[in-house]
Amino acid sequence: MNNPVIRVELVSKTFRTRKGGVEAVRDFSLDIERGEVVCVVGASGCGKSTVLNMVAGFIRPTTGKILLDGEEIKGIEPRCGMIFQSYALFPWLTVLDNVAFGSRMKGVSRKERYRCARRWIGLVGLRGFEDAYPGELSGGMQQRVALSRVLANEPQVLLCDEPFAALDAMTRQIMQQELLRIVRESSKTVLFITHSIDEALILSDRLVVMSARPGMVKATFDNDLPRPRHMDIQLTEDFLRLKRRVWELVQKEVVKSMSQK
Ligand SMILES: Nc1ncnc2c1ncn2[C@@H]1O[C@H](COP(=O)(O)OP(=O)(O)O)[C@@H](O)[C@H]1O
Ligand SMILES: [Mg+2]
Repeated sequence: MNNPVIRVELVSKTFRTRKGGVEAVRDFSLDIERGEVVCVVGASGCGKSTVLNMVAGFIRPTTGKILLDGEEIKGIEPRCGMIFQSYALFPWLTVLDNVAFGSRMKGVSRKERYRCARRWIGLVGLRGFEDAYPGELSGGMQQRVALSRVLANEPQVLLCDEPFAALDAMTRQIMQQELLRIVRESSKTVLFITHSIDEALILSDRLVVMSARPGMVKATFDNDLPRPRHMDIQLTEDFLRLKRRVWELVQKEVVKSMSQK
């Protein structure tokens, strides 16, 4: 790979706690190309969020480094937009104001911010809900607002930390399709964390399986399943074959991580 957008280079992270050190991530390396969707799967507590938080610049690696377009990430990185499982919307602001809020920091004019916010609200399928408050919306709709707020900042890279994990199964599938559509239309680079192998297989170009803590790259799979990926792809032999291979690896790590607790 010549010019990855993101290069994670032999990164380790040990958290200092009152009880001593917790080695969360060890020697983790990953290159992500422009426009690629990479999903990371692994057991709960294996260090997935830690990796993502380091790419976002929220926390610094203990050793190793992370490059964005060849430059080391040293602080919170505005070129990366993060979406979480919790929507983190301001309940006292309307949908429109929530979405327009993020780019306030970037010195964009008010008119332009609202124009852009309206466009993204439309793109995530929420036209007509601009004046609603988050509390009036379903979980899936709130997550769309959160997504459009991040996208309105025009990040180069979208970082996703299990954003759909709290949604019911049907809403989750719809959100996966929406994300695929938006990513295709805006050619974003995506690093998506999930503990669902199905979700990773639907979304990814490449899939990384993490080991039990300390999180390392256990294996990487190229996901050549045909696109566009509709839900019925989950019933195909190719899907099931790949799922079985991934699951065998993940399962071993889940068992290991359960004995750690
Ligand atoms: N700020 C922190 N301080 C101490 N330990 C932490 C901190 N953040 C995460 N950890 C520990 O690091 C390990 C990996 O956590 P995390 O990256 O959140 O896992 P995952 O997202 O895969 O569930 C866990 O054992 C967790 O308790
Ligand atoms: Mg996590």
